[in-house]
Amino acid sequence: MRADSNWGEPPSLTRRVEHFLSGAAPRQSRPNHQRNPDVIDLRRNDYISLSGHPSIIDAQIAELKGGGDNIYMSAAFLSESTMQRAVERKTAAFLGTEDAVLCQSGWCANVGLMHAITDQHTHVYLDQFVHAGMWDGARSTGSSIHPFRHNNPQHLEDLIKEHGVGVIVVSSIYPGNGLVCPLADVADIAVRHGCELAVDESHTIGVHGRHGEGLVSALGLSEKVSYRNFSLSKAMVTRAGMVAGPARIIDFFRYESRPAIFSSAVLQYEIAGLAAALNVIQEEDWRRERLRANTLSLRAQLANSDFDVLPDGSQIIPILAGVDGDAAEFCAALARNNLLSTVINTPDGSVTNSFVRLSVNSSLSAEDIEGIVDICARTRTQRQSADARQRA
Ligand SMILES: Cc1ncc(COP(=O)(O)O)c(C=O)c1O
Repeated sequence: MRADSNWGEPPSLTRRVEHFLSGAAPRQSRPNHQRNPDVIDLRRNDYISLSGHPSIIDAQIAELKGGGDNIYMSAAFLSESTMQRAVERKTAAFLGTEDAVLCQSGWCANVGLMHAITDQHTHVYLDQFVHAGMWDGARSTGSSIHPFRHNNPQHLEDLIKEHGVGVIVVSSIYPGNGLVCPLADVADIAVRHGCELAVDESHTIGVHGRHGEGLVSALGLSEKVSYRNFSLSKAMVTRAGMVAGPARIIDFFRYESRPAIFSSAVLQYEIAGLAAALNVIQEEDWRRERLRANTLSLRAQLANSDFDVLPDGSQIIPILAGVDGDAAEFCAALARNNLLSTVINTPDGSVTNSFVRLSVNSSLSAEDIEGIVDICARTRTQRQSADARQRA
């Protein structure tokens, strides 16, 4: 390699890399003490604490020991009698949809859904905060994209009136800020204007609904929602994704979405784990009850301690950064005090509008929650004192 290792690199790439390496671009801190029992980890999306669940692990091990009949090629070649098809049908029955298709990740589910259902003649109405996979999928088909203001049904309806019928895309909970989508209003707009509605349920599957069916089912909106897509690597602790909807479109997806055709199928032991996880989430309702109680308690205690948590009830709690608005610094300071969180950067990349995210889970005890609030308050005081010293 030549000494000037960026020889031949396009100037725009050099600029972007230099900007990143300079530290000007916000990025996650990566504290190195994940397995320390004194550390409370609120970065994970394992909301109902299923990771390590014995029946999921046992199912995965049994499949691995049995040799795991993997196909190592695209799932488009799978026959109807496979474990994958059985799990897809089981998920569809659970959600009350005609069918479902397993994808390699939530990303693939989102990109693939947009590949399957949009083309250059489609108007796509995206909430500005929907997952990047939806944006990339819709862009790649040449559809006309009309972003609407976050959680703003009125703006959505105005755009539909201006441009015409199309596909509306929202997320039932937005992981960036923890806000819940006004789904009933969006669904009414979809019906009123004859639009299709796709809902990303990545952060609500396993978490909302009587047995974890997600927010669409919980709100009784199944008939108004065309597609539900989700990552299975949140509450479902499996490395995969799904799209659920009408049988003919799901079948079309298997052969027309590019991730489904040009990437290999999910491995069998992961599918066995998913089948077990589907049973557990339906059988262990107490996990959702604990999660709800923990969420209410942490939100209330943080608000009582004067933390600026955005109003709303989801298990994803954003804390606006405090002292000088720099979430990355606050996050790093929390980690030094043994609380792991994530930094969420606003799409404009600004530091001042970014915040720290705490993802609640069902296994936190009352003492843990008090400890979390205490760490947040202590960290804020430490930063205020450091700031005051700097100014003096
Ligand atoms: C709302 C949402 N959709 C989709 C995804 C992608 O899921 P996965 O990590 O399984 O690719 C994520 C996770 O990043 C997400 O938060």
